Amino acid sequence: PIKACIFDLDGVIVDTAKFHYLAWRRLAQELGFDFTEEDNERLKGVSRMDSLNILLEIGGVELDNAKKEELAKNKNEWYVELISEMDEKEILPGTTEFLTLLKEAGVKISLGSASKNAKMILKKINLLHMFDCIIDGTNISKAKPDPEVFLLGANALKVDPSECVVFEDAVSGVEAAISAGMYVIGIGTKETLHRANDVVGSLAEMTLDRLER
Ligand code: BG6
Ligand code: MG
Repeated sequence: PIKACIFDLDGVIVDTAKFHYLAWRRLAQELGFDFTEEDNERLKGVSRMDSLNILLEIGGVELDNAKKEELAKNKNEWYVELISEMDEKEILPGTTEFLTLLKEAGVKISLGSASKNAKMILKKINLLHMFDCIIDGTNISKAKPDPEVFLLGANALKVDPSECVVFEDAVSGVEAAISAGMYVIGIGTKETLHRANDVVGSLAEMTLDRLER
């Protein structure tokens, strides 16, 4: 039986990808190049500094570490400002209902996110109380596709990786879950997330039956 479900945050529980994109695009434009939505796919699930490095590579810009720290800080300030008005309306379809089903069934609920803003976001959308465990960008030393973020969650909940199901929208996150030895359900399309064990369009398609299968 499944003992724990581990959820990515951005793009799985809440629709923050568009705000990350706006903030990164603003940074790219200030540096003098364009950043498309297609480019943005490469940043999903990737840590803040790794994202900046990919962005700079796309723009063909080379900078020292001090400058990079400064730019990453700017981007985060814009992002935090963009999400400052965020509330329950930004929760993706079916999320609250599925989390409630899991709680009733006694399945543990954990967060496995690369974001350092994760707790603040869960508070804003009023879902923090649903989580038994939160592993986020402040707890990890290795970013997805490294399995660390999911293994720390399983460890904290004292469950075996084989008893966990991960929900992920990013290719890097699906890889991380596979490396952790966990079953992974992709949120998105089969084309992008072809390595996932199962793919749904959103958590609205999830049932306890589908989980156990
Ligand atoms: C991931 C997002 O969840 O968190 C990425 O998919 C983001 O887009 C990363 O860069 C880090 O987030 P933050 O909030 O710490 O900058
Ligand atoms: Mg994500």
